[in-house]
Amino acid sequence: YLATAPRYYVPAVRHLAAAQMIRQEQGRRALVVEKPYGHDLASAEHLDDFVLEHLSERQVFRIDHYLGKETAQNIVFFRFANTIFEPVWNRGYIDNVQITVAETVDVAERAGYYDNSGALRDMMQNHLLQLLALVAMEPPSSLDPQALRNERVKLLNSIRPIEPEDVVLGQYASYADAPGVAPGSRTPTYAALRLLIDNWRWQGVPFYLRTGKALRAKTSEISIQFKPPPDIMFDLKADATFTPNRVSICVQPDEGVHLTFESKVPDSAKESRSVDMAFHYRDAFDGDELPDAYERLLLNALYGDASLFARSDGNRASWRLIDPLLRGPLADRPVTVYEPGTWGPMESDRLLARAGHLWALGCEH
Ligand code: BG6
Repeated sequence: YLATAPRYYVPAVRHLAAAQMIRQEQGRRALVVEKPYGHDLASAEHLDDFVLEHLSERQVFRIDHYLGKETAQNIVFFRFANTIFEPVWNRGYIDNVQITVAETVDVAERAGYYDNSGALRDMMQNHLLQLLALVAMEPPSSLDPQALRNERVKLLNSIRPIEPEDVVLGQYASYADAPGVAPGSRTPTYAALRLLIDNWRWQGVPFYLRTGKALRAKTSEISIQFKPPPDIMFDLKADATFTPNRVSICVQPDEGVHLTFESKVPDSAKESRSVDMAFHYRDAFDGDELPDAYERLLLNALYGDASLFARSDGNRASWRLIDPLLRGPLADRPVTVYEPGTWGPMESDRLLARAGHLWALGCEH
């Protein structure tokens, strides 16, 4: 289990191979590798080529701990163990999808690692894209690891290359003062992206992804925003509007699902209000503690079940999307500074406002 600095991955595999410790004649041998699995597309491919020279894909377990979270695993159940959501889970009914992974912590003593990484590498390339794959993929033919991963990878391969104007990067104000941060560092501690998926289900539906450190609240959630009704037959008050219907899949810390819809305000025919229907794990499952992502992942690796791990082609597909954002015009842009304790740079709101959208949070935090 390579929970080591990434520079040791290649030598560790080389020595394990030389010591005959990954040959399978005497029993199963598996290699679990922590993130970051690559620093950019070229280094990820180089590392992966090397690993796959020595081990077969079935032996390799690339960790993305978001896939191991109970609430992330539940996305497949939520979508495919029910019949009420999937018929509207497409461009016909969904207006936009938002994925927020916000943290209140700053980089603190991790600056040595973080300054060479930043929000795109540390969170977007892996955790947010995997959540996106789960929420947007087609139904797999079974829960077999290959079948599941085929669908996740197919989805990642359908994402259109990202245009620079669809990227917002920011850095919180005191980041430069943290010990370990290079002078003049432009490492983003915040990133927001607008993605489009070129397939039949999602053509034209924007997917907005954002993640950052030192933000106002800690919440990881996926917000599915539905289209407005095609006709408003109600005689609403002059300035009244409907809030879009929304399914919020709450990954953490408010584990559960919220459904927001409009309701008539009692005793008024002219007023409608957005109300919330909520499922909380803590109430529905007797307060049982949810297993930690790592418990699930390490156990699955021991069992040889790779369904919750990134596959070689999936890891490469997500690097292909993120890699162009790490260089070229984007990397040369001056960094936008945001105040800690806010929701990040204003440009992020403008990214959505272009299409008349607003960031919306539906989970408790
Ligand atoms: C890690 C990142 O992979 O995920 C960290 O390296 C981040 O920067 C962490 O804080 C977030 O994980 P969680 O489970 O606390 O949301």
